[in-house]
Amino acid sequence: MFRFGMFRGRIPSKMNWESVRGMATAGISAVPRRRWRGLIITASVIGGYAGYIYAWRENLFSLQKDRENKPKLLVLGTGWASVALLRHIDTKLYDVQCISPRNYFLMTPLLPSVSVGTVETRTVVEPVRPLVGTNIKFLEAECVDIDPEKKRVVCQGTPSIDGSQTNESQFSQRDVADNIGGSSSRRVHDGARTRPPFELDYDFLVVAVGAENNTFNTPGVDSHAHFLKELPDARRIRAAISDCFESASIPTQTEEERKRLLSFVVVGGGPTGVEFAAELSDMVHEDLSKNFPQLDRSEIRISLVEALDHVLSMYDHKISEYTEKHFDRENISVLNSTFVKEVKQREVVLQKRGSQEKGSLPCGMVVWATGIKPRPFVNSLRKRVGELQSNPRAVVTDTYLRVIGAPSMYAMGDCSSIQMPKVGVANLVPDGTKELGFDEFAALLKDRMHEYPQLESYAQQVKASFEKADLNGDGKLQISELKVLLDEADKLLRPLPATAQVANQEGKFLAQHLNKLALGNDANDLEPFRYRHLGSLAYVGGDKAVIDFSGTGLFQKFFGLEPINGRGAFYLWRSFYLTEMVTLRTKILLAFDWLRSKLFGRDISRV
Ligand code: NAI
Repeated sequence: MFRFGMFRGRIPSKMNWESVRGMATAGISAVPRRRWRGLIITASVIGGYAGYIYAWRENLFSLQKDRENKPKLLVLGTGWASVALLRHIDTKLYDVQCISPRNYFLMTPLLPSVSVGTVETRTVVEPVRPLVGTNIKFLEAECVDIDPEKKRVVCQGTPSIDGSQTNESQFSQRDVADNIGGSSSRRVHDGARTRPPFELDYDFLVVAVGAENNTFNTPGVDSHAHFLKELPDARRIRAAISDCFESASIPTQTEEERKRLLSFVVVGGGPTGVEFAAELSDMVHEDLSKNFPQLDRSEIRISLVEALDHVLSMYDHKISEYTEKHFDRENISVLNSTFVKEVKQREVVLQKRGSQEKGSLPCGMVVWATGIKPRPFVNSLRKRVGELQSNPRAVVTDTYLRVIGAPSMYAMGDCSSIQMPKVGVANLVPDGTKELGFDEFAALLKDRMHEYPQLESYAQQVKASFEKADLNGDGKLQISELKVLLDEADKLLRPLPATAQVANQEGKFLAQHLNKLALGNDANDLEPFRYRHLGSLAYVGGDKAVIDFSGTGLFQKFFGLEPINGRGAFYLWRSFYLTEMVTLRTKILLAFDWLRSKLFGRDISRV
């Protein structure tokens, strides 16, 4: 017990409290200031850390308690659509889990740059756990089956190594790429990390598993061509390009073999094929020919094979023309209206449209970029849901992204397709309506274009649309005339393209939609999904890019309806991707990669 008398031996009896305080102050000042500072900092760190642990434990317990009460939302996939959803969903309203064989988000539009080393692999990767935060549970596994009735999924804990579709030949390609360089030829077969299968229940399921490469069953593609869809594909291509150049440099190589090794074939003139051919051409001109001075530059050949009449055929025709002319200047041979019928180990077999004759193009490497098809998992899901899923190319949803025929299930991104409702006269005007005046017609378009997006272009030019539809010129639209206009409008309905832009918007929409549902709103009172096209862009090489604003409404008007190409478009392209990078870390990495490859060239070593 504290007693004043305890100090009796040390404090002089005549001392008052003033002098005690003075002594204490003198004691404090006697201790060096630095030590006090150190003590205060240590105490704050320990206190802060203890507080953090306490808050974390509290949060964990309350999370566990909350989890039991909240609806379970299970998201399949870590691509554009899923990550957009996971970043916008309110975890106070849902117990969110995500399952994917790939524990990172991949900035897919930059894969062509990664495949030639302009951009490094880690720059285009965002680890999914820090990205979505600790309130969302992530499991690296592959969903192999869904039972929509029991609302349960079966997951396999043994995903393919890279999250992409793999087969024997791809494994052997990876072996080649990974084993280069002596010591790494030793492969470790390590079976210690087992992952038993498991099942999960859900209240709401979101399927966003993407799609896989479409080979159109062309013989030899699986075994001899590279895809450009996942990160390991880009790494393999980078190693294969280097391999071709190193092999061609061996002095005993025959001329024929050297020319073959220096011939690169890109199949598919869509944005992927065009951007890869452009990046490869940059690499050849800027780095490889400098680093391999013994090789004759005129022997290097890049061929882009496209089955349709033009490359980038989905863009404005001016962009296709510009790209083809630009490729001609960059020595990329564009073979339009030409099909690749077979890929062999040392050549591709070509056939011109309308001709029976086949030719062959010897090559050292083939990149196959002819578009996408549904994954087998998506096909089995469609069959499981039943007859209502009649589209063989994707899971069909309504405009709220609800899978048709499967309650509580949503689908988005490349694996899905939205069924847009057709406008019928009966849906639009009340029974018994015989004709519409101009004002009624304008009001009708304005009110209903959100429900039927195909009416939007008519609403933008309402006077011209009215005059065109008024076939008998009586200043009124009879129901038969309105029907002609609506049939024409329905013909404008197109499935949305399988792009990152669509997937990203769908993910954001669904998160906001689900948040509103959890707050008690009725789904049918909420706005359906509306895609806003912000333009299409592609890099075409030599610091030039193309941007197509068609279909963008306001943007199109702002840029004077014309597509942009050249160096200005290139700077816009770069600024766009810099802003699109998900975190500050990858924004900085990307800027540094561009600077590094400009100042020091690309790293062409095969590591
Ligand atoms: P794609 O489907 O757009 O183009 C594939 C091309 O390959 C088609 O033009 C087709 O005619 C051609 N083709 C098919 N079979 C062939 C054969 N046997 N021989 C020769 N040619 C053949 O595929 P891509 O480029 O992979 O793009 C997929 C999606 O991703 C598209 O919606 C695209 O817009 C988008 N994307 C957009 C990018 C961007 O905006 N910068 C970049 C990459 C992809």
